[in-house]
Amino acid sequence: MSESPRSPQWWRQAAIYQVYLRSFADGDGDGIGDLAGVRSRLSYLADLGVDAIWFTPWYPSPMDDGGYDVADFRDIEPTFGTLADAEQVLAEARALGLKVIIDIVPNHCSDTHRWFSAALEAGPGSPERERFWFRDGRGPDGAEPPNNWRSRFGGSAWTRVVEPDGSPGQWYLHLYSSRQPDLNWESQEVRAEFEDILRFWFDRGVDGFRIDVADGLVKDPALPDVEPGDETPFSDQEGVHEIYRAWRRIARSYPAERLLVGEMWLPDLRRSARYLREDEMHAAFNFDFLVCPWDVARFREVIDRTLESHDEVGAPPSWVLSNHDVTRPVTRYGRSGDTGFSFADRLHGTPVDRELGTRRARAAALLAMALPGGVYLYQGEELGLWEIEDIPGELRQDPVWERSDHADPGRDGCRVPMPWSGAAPPFGFSPDNAEKEPWLPQPAEWASHTASAQAADPGSVLSLYRSGLRLRKQAQGELRWLDQPPGVLAFRRGTFACLLNFSAEPVALPEHREVLLTSAPLADGQLPTDTAAWLRLPA
Ligand code: NOJ
Repeated sequence: MSESPRSPQWWRQAAIYQVYLRSFADGDGDGIGDLAGVRSRLSYLADLGVDAIWFTPWYPSPMDDGGYDVADFRDIEPTFGTLADAEQVLAEARALGLKVIIDIVPNHCSDTHRWFSAALEAGPGSPERERFWFRDGRGPDGAEPPNNWRSRFGGSAWTRVVEPDGSPGQWYLHLYSSRQPDLNWESQEVRAEFEDILRFWFDRGVDGFRIDVADGLVKDPALPDVEPGDETPFSDQEGVHEIYRAWRRIARSYPAERLLVGEMWLPDLRRSARYLREDEMHAAFNFDFLVCPWDVARFREVIDRTLESHDEVGAPPSWVLSNHDVTRPVTRYGRSGDTGFSFADRLHGTPVDRELGTRRARAAALLAMALPGGVYLYQGEELGLWEIEDIPGELRQDPVWERSDHADPGRDGCRVPMPWSGAAPPFGFSPDNAEKEPWLPQPAEWASHTASAQAADPGSVLSLYRSGLRLRKQAQGELRWLDQPPGVLAFRRGTFACLLNFSAEPVALPEHREVLLTSAPLADGQLPTDTAAWLRLPA
């Protein structure tokens, strides 16, 4: 079946809201977000004005990596609810006009997945081990890892197992935590299994998948050591593309078009755009935009590069300011030094001017929402939440914290449960009579940042997002840069224009018929520093 006749291609300009389930809303009072909580907040998402929701993994999981360690790809984590609850969420979302995308994690599974237990039991050389990357170690007793690859969470990417007879045995590869063994995509069985999993969820009505570590599935089977500057033999291998061609064929076989969105952190946008060729994925996250420091030339350059690289393959660009892995934008843009983001140095603890960060995050939101293509929002971004940097070590849950020997605080600071209402924690995240506190502590200062406090305030970040999501539909057509004074980013799309003033001085607005929206009040009709405006230009 072809996509075009019935397909409105909604994803080409969609606003997609990321729900990090554990931290969104807790329906049953155990301090952990769940599907009952989601159901109670679906109307909030519909009112916000997003087109789709992306759920981070909802599968059964020991939660070593927040659910990215999946024990069973065809069921729901009991703490979150049941398969019936998930089907209910899908139906209720659909009734509100919201599409639903779910996370699929094909690079690895949990060490509690039945396949991994079977591999441990079956021993070296077995077909069960072929589904993973088991290798003998180096050195006289095989006591050294098979190669020098590092886990992205710190430490070696290899862990040694004890064989069924009790002897020290082979090693298995894990690019993330040791509880997330990498699957071997050379295995036809692995491929067939995931194709079946896609169908399982498409059959239940999901509108698409967000593909975790999408560039990482295929490894150079020689598993060579890597030296600094080498190409990475575990990322962006040519063979990975045929996996997505097969997945696209499956997506196409369904009557209403289903979406594939890739998570690729690659150094070159043109490389990620190759995953968006017409027979592969539909869209990808634009992390170059996310990591861009607060600088007019850098933003202009990233936008141009994004548009060009996506144009070449005919795919819609995307604009992302945050997600559950990165420092929240209010904190990033408010840092006294580098205002970009990098996993290598999260700049944890660098002084932050939160007011400045908020001002810039508001302006960035209008920029992201005005650009051509899709926009991804991460829960709490629409409330202007900031990174919580002072979570006590003993409460931190991200495996990065332990695996880095506490050198890297990890990602818990952007995963603190949402403040919905009320004057004190749990801020409506859990019911009033909840047995347990939220799984990560919320700061008292969030009293002023709850969704209900902001809903009534026309000047709030929430109100800005609501207006922005409604008005962005007026931005249609190609982007054309406008001539503006240095330090100002300005473009038009038809008669809709967006300006962002990065310079230290207020600037005059170009001739316009109407001011549609601004991220901060104008000053005597001028656009102040770190402020964005949307205008209707004369025809
Ligand atoms: C990317 C996910 O966004 C992140 O949270 C996770 O830890 C890794 N992939 C591994 O699955």
